[in-house]
Order: sequence, then C-alpha cells, then structure tokens
Amino acid sequence: MPGRRAFITGTSQGLGAFLATRLAEDGWKVTGLGRRPRTESSAAQAIDYIQADLSLPETVEELPALIGETPDLIVHSAVVYPSREISVPGWADLEGAFRVNALVPYRLTLDLLADKPQDHFTSCVVVNSEAICHADRQSGVYAASKAALRVLTTALAESCRSHNASVSTLLLGPLADPAKVADLRGIAERRGVSEAEITRLFLRKSNPDLVIESLIDFESCYRSVMYIADLGPVANGMMCRLDGGSAGSLI
Ligand SMILES: NC(=O)c1ccc[n+]([C@@H]2O[C@H](COP(=O)([O-])OP(=O)(O)OC[C@H]3O[C@@H](n4cnc5c(N)ncnc54)[C@H](OP(=O)(O)O)[C@@H]3O)[C@@H](O)[C@H]2O)c1
Repeated sequence: MPGRRAFITGTSQGLGAFLATRLAEDGWKVTGLGRRPRTESSAAQAIDYIQADLSLPETVEELPALIGETPDLIVHSAVVYPSREISVPGWADLEGAFRVNALVPYRLTLDLLADKPQDHFTSCVVVNSEAICHADRQSGVYAASKAALRVLTTALAESCRSHNASVSTLLLGPLADPAKVADLRGIAERRGVSEAEITRLFLRKSNPDLVIESLIDFESCYRSVMYIADLGPVANGMMCRLDGGSAGSLI
C-alpha cells in the first residue's frame, strides 16, 4: 500500500524488525523504534529509526513529536522478557517490564490518537502472547505484564469508537525467531534427528497447553497484521489469535 505510514516499536530485532522490513518492502513509509543504536539494528535501512529507551517516562512524553503526524498503522511489538533465573526480581526490573510491555503501548496510543485529525483513520495492532493463559513461576512477571496489556487494549478499543481508529490484539504463540531456530537446529544436529522432530519435542515440553507442532513464522504474523489493518474500523477490539490453540480452547 504505497504512501501509507507506519510506526512500529521493537524494530531493532525479532518480530518488530521483520514487520518493519516487510512493510517497507510493500511500499509503506516506516518509522521504527529500538533501544540499541541503529547500526546494531537488524531492520532494513529503508526505515526511519528512533533510538529510545521506552522504560524512561520522558521517552513517552517526547515520542509523539518525534513521530509527527499520527500514522495509518501503529504496531506495538517491543517487549522486555524478565530474567527467568532470578527468584526475587528487583523493583526496577518489575516496573521496567510493566512499563515497556503494558503501560507504554497504552499511553502512547492514547497520545497518538488524541493528536489525530478526526477524518484520518488509524489502525493499531498490539502484539500479545499466549503466555497470558498459562503462567508459571518463571514466566509470571512477563505473563502478568502481557495480561495487563490485554486489559488495557480493551480499554483503548473503547476510546477508539469516538476517534475513527481501531485497536486490535495479535495474540501469538512461540515464534520462529532466528535465535530459537538456530538453537533447535544445533540440538537436532548433535542428536542426529530432524529439526522438525526436535521442534515438536521442544514445543510439547515448553508449551504443553498448545496444540502446535511447529514454530509460528514471522511472515504469518505480517499477514495477520495486514489483515487486521485492511479490515479498517470493524477490527476495533478484535483479537487475532495465531497460537496453535491456547490453554482451554479445546475444553
Ligand atoms: N518470541 C516469541 O516466541 C513470542 C511469542 C509470543 C509473543 N511474542 C511477542 O512478540 C513481540 C516481539 O517479540 P520478540 O521475541 O520478537 O522480541 P525481541 O526479539 O526480544 O525484541 C524486542 C524488541 O523490543 C525492544 N525493546 C526492549 N526493551 C526496550 C526498551 N526499554 N526501549 C525500547 N525498545 C525496547 C528491543 O530493542 P533492543 O534489543 O534494541 O533493546 C527489541 O527491538 C513481543 O510483543 C512478544 O511479547 C513473542
């Protein structure tokens, strides 16, 4: 869709970098945001890049001016994964996770929608995780921050009704991110079995509640974002679930 503008967080690596790159390839003018310097970002050079730390309150105050006119598409993909090894997380880590994963998407969306002309439609896609359905001791903080995001997204959808905008959730299961794929490939090679078999074993162990045998590819996530964006206002409040069947879905 040539000429359309997108703003995406978390574009220095992982899913955010992929989405930003694919949008740019499809003719969108993309502004991405990551914490590391642009030179260390894996997103395509074609995207504008804002280097900022979303855990700092002043960043969110400054961002609307840096982004400029409210874009046609906003995607919140940035995430903090709290350490799974620390048994008692510090306050700074707890607050940082909730700020980046839940509070920033909420507050920034409100600010960008408030600045938007009423006749300009904006679609906002909030990336969430099936982790909200089954937390354990190690994933509890991450899952709780994403559960907060899910509730705040519903609140945003309510305010969109009067703002000619839609806010939707893209709820994802385990992704085929390059690091995870490389780890699984290495294990498969060492054990002399296929990558597909090791991936199945990994998923059964790490995500026993999912009915899923392979990792979710980034391209399917991109197509889901495009699907939501193309739906327009009717997508407001929608949850697009790409997770292979989350906890309880078969019960
Ligand atoms: N990976 C999965 O299996 C999976 C499964 C379900 C859902 N999801 C969701 O998918 C989305 C993308 O996940 P991912 O695994 O692809 O992420 P990722 O590879 O860990 O990348 C996270 C991104 O967020 C940025 N970020 C983190 N803290 C930041 C901060 N304080 N300020 C600014 N930027 C910050 C990172 O920037 P820097 O690296 O430059 O700091 C990076 O660009 C997330 O919303 C996640 O919850 C992922």
